[in-house]
Amino acid sequence: MSKLKAKGFATRAIHHGYDPLNNQGALIPPIYLSATFAFPTVEYGAQCFSGEEKGHFYTRISNPTLQLLEARMASLEGGEAAVAFSSGMGAITSTIWPLVRPGDEILADKTLYGCTFAFLEHGVGQFGVRVRYVDMSDLDAVAAALTPQTKIAYFESPANPSMSLVDIAAIAQLARRVGAKVVVDNTYCTPYLQRPLELGADIVVHSATKYLSGHGDITAGIAISSREIIDPIRLKGLKDMTGAVMSPQDAFLLLRGLKTLAIRMERHCDSAAELAAMLDEHPAVSKVYFPGLPSFAQHELATRQMRRYGGMIAFELTQGVQAGRRFMNALTLFARAVSLGDCESLAQHPATMTHSTYTPQERAAHGISDGLVRLSVGLEDCADLIQDIGQALERCSL
Ligand SMILES: Cc1ncc(COP(=O)(O)O)c(C=O)c1O
Repeated sequence: MSKLKAKGFATRAIHHGYDPLNNQGALIPPIYLSATFAFPTVEYGAQCFSGEEKGHFYTRISNPTLQLLEARMASLEGGEAAVAFSSGMGAITSTIWPLVRPGDEILADKTLYGCTFAFLEHGVGQFGVRVRYVDMSDLDAVAAALTPQTKIAYFESPANPSMSLVDIAAIAQLARRVGAKVVVDNTYCTPYLQRPLELGADIVVHSATKYLSGHGDITAGIAISSREIIDPIRLKGLKDMTGAVMSPQDAFLLLRGLKTLAIRMERHCDSAAELAAMLDEHPAVSKVYFPGLPSFAQHELATRQMRRYGGMIAFELTQGVQAGRRFMNALTLFARAVSLGDCESLAQHPATMTHSTYTPQERAAHGISDGLVRLSVGLEDCADLIQDIGQALERCSL
């Protein structure tokens, strides 16, 4: 459907890559559950395996439902190709394994989602790959840390959970000098708010469990890049190393979620901006981390790099960790739950939940404070969310 290339984001999120008239008129794409695909001849089968033919042969490598999702995500992120996975961690690990060998280095931002940090520290880092961490908001530190052995510069922006931002275009320029690939976890933003490939990054990875699917009913991941980079991620990372393939049923749910991504993100952004302003003025709150606040240290970078400021907020309470516990237990509408990007608003405590993969010393060194509370602002009526946060803040200060 190349005629759709010039269409807007929401139009492509609904239509890209699918024509009902090529599918018996079915308006909604069918789910191909088949694990294997029949060959017309043995020669054709051999050509599929050698890559001379592009036909489907086994769902761990490709499948028509996954192929549609991949084409649609590539279009939305502005990449040539994509590959779908069974989780965000499946996407991250399948992307990183084929890019490095013993003796290589990975340079990562100091603040990362807990299991990404665990994979770098206790996974790839145990196999002769040197992993180093720098504060990637400090461009001089990044320039000094990159070496000819650096194969990957890896970061999230905004970072989970601290909300710190990384200047994607600036890092891409620095990494290019040493030939390192820039991998950006765009989970917090989705391509609706930020498109790293257009800013010079090489690969975008997502936990599609979050905003992309948007309803908290699947775990899923996706990587988007050029065809040259995606092919080995699929044929080595996914096929031979992790096997973390997405189920076609989950691809269907993700295609359904993508159709409302643009309007969902607008609503997440509206409500998060209102809540962040309310938290910022509340005496029980000592610090709010939200890129849309003028007081946010990297507000100018956020305005330059993101369409809007997203639906995630982190904050600390004046009375510290115990008050944070009381606050979270007093919530009646926000669920006490990890994950993010769902219709339901969620609150969690990174130090004991999503980032408990770090030791206390590592958390201190990586800027993840014990008092931090993280909110994923959902799609409920904003007045109800403000009322819930307000009453929980009153009760936590008693
Ligand atoms: C920023 C980020 N990246 C990656 C992941 C991992 O995704 P998944 O849970 O789908 O494996 C998460 C999960 O919370 C995340 O928040």
